[in-house]
Amino acid sequence: MVFPGFMNKVPMAVLAGALGLGAALTAAIWYWGGPKHTEVGYSPKQPIPFSHRVHAGDLGMDCRFCHNTVERTAVAPLPSGESCMSCHAFVKKDSEGVKRLAAAVAKNEAIPWVRVHRLPDYARFHHGVHVQAGVSCLSCHGRIDQMTQVRQVEPLSMSWCLDCHRKPEAQLRPAHLITRLDAVIPDPVATGRRIMESRHLKPSTDCSACHQ
Ligand code: HEC
Ligand code: HEC
Ligand code: HEC
Ligand code: HEC
Ligand code: HEC
Repeated sequence: MVFPGFMNKVPMAVLAGALGLGAALTAAIWYWGGPKHTEVGYSPKQPIPFSHRVHAGDLGMDCRFCHNTVERTAVAPLPSGESCMSCHAFVKKDSEGVKRLAAAVAKNEAIPWVRVHRLPDYARFHHGVHVQAGVSCLSCHGRIDQMTQVRQVEPLSMSWCLDCHRKPEAQLRPAHLITRLDAVIPDPVATGRRIMESRHLKPSTDCSACHQ
């Protein structure tokens, strides 16, 4: 079996074709992995109007203050309501959004944030691997620090993943600039090449790297 977890999710006809014939395989990838399959622009309203522009932009808070294990774990965690209260027990207490936040925390309820980016279950992604390799949040999420409401800016399609896996040079930067979305990298390709060589990076294009 090449990718068992995948079997129950994909129509058998596609899978049989994909496994049997190179041409069908290419067609399937072309169709599903192409720019057509995309939710660029998706920006759902959130239960509390949390602004990255205010917190990460104006106040200059590092992404890792809130998404604190993003350098190690597959999933980038969302912050707890309690962590917001370290400031909002004092700051903007009378605002509608902060009142809603405080009420949820007092009742020990999770804030029902609406998920923005999501891959299908049959595709695997790991934040830590990318951050460790020197890929900035910017490459995949855009200028989050300028967004008042999070918006998807990249297609997250298979061909999008593969474009970078085949040619990641221009997307790699030194570790201290990963979350500095406004940083200008001088000569990005040469910088990226140095990083690739020193860390022996070789992003995979094998099906099994992302499908299992
Ligand atoms: C003060 C805490 C805080 C900081 C700092 C912060 N975030 Fe967030 N982030 C959140 C919260 C809360 C959410 C969920 C609500 C939302 O989507 O706006 C979120 C959501 C996101 C999402 C969307 C998740 C999804 O549903 O797909 C991305 C991507 C993201 N943050 C990236 C970043 C990046 C990149 C930075 C640094 C530039 C950053 N965040 C800084 C708190 C924070
Ligand atoms: C380090 C302190 C700090 C943390 C932590 C923090 N905030 Fe804030 N937040 C602020 C400040 C300061 C402002 C006001 C900015 C301004 O308008 O001048 C603000 C503004 C807001 C507002 C808008 C209030 C209004 O109506 O003007 C909301 C809503 C909010 N924060 C939610 C959150 C949530 C949710 C979290 C946790 C994910 C969070 N904040 C974490 C400092 C913080
Ligand atoms: C190589 C692309 C890439 C990079 C780099 C990246 N992300 Fe993501 N991010 C994604 C994808 C893809 C998803 C959807 C994952 C899924 O559905 O399994 C996602 C989802 C998220 C989520 C929602 C929770 C989750 O993990 O599914 C948050 C929060 C987030 N990213 C924050 C960040 C922050 C902060 C950074 C930088 C430190 C970052 N991301 C770097 C591609 C990336
Ligand atoms: C902007 C560039 C970029 C994008 C976009 C990107 N990746 Fe990667 N990916 C990398 C780099 C660099 C590595 C590290 C390779 C290494 O350690 O040798 C990596 C590693 C991985 C790995 C670990 C296996 C391996 O190749 O080492 C997986 C799994 C993976 N990526 C999945 C994805 C998926 C799924 C997507 C699309 C949703 C994606 N990536 C998008 C650059 C990228
Ligand atoms: C770097 C990661 C990565 C690699 C390598 C990769 N894929 Fe994918 N693949 C994805 C992602 C992410 C999606 C989901 C894209 C979307 O939601 O549009 C996907 C979607 C698919 C789909 C579409 C399924 C459907 O129901 O829409 C097929 C079929 C597929 N991949 C087969 C393959 C095959 C065969 C290979 C090896 C030649 C391969 N993939 C290699 C990341 C990858």
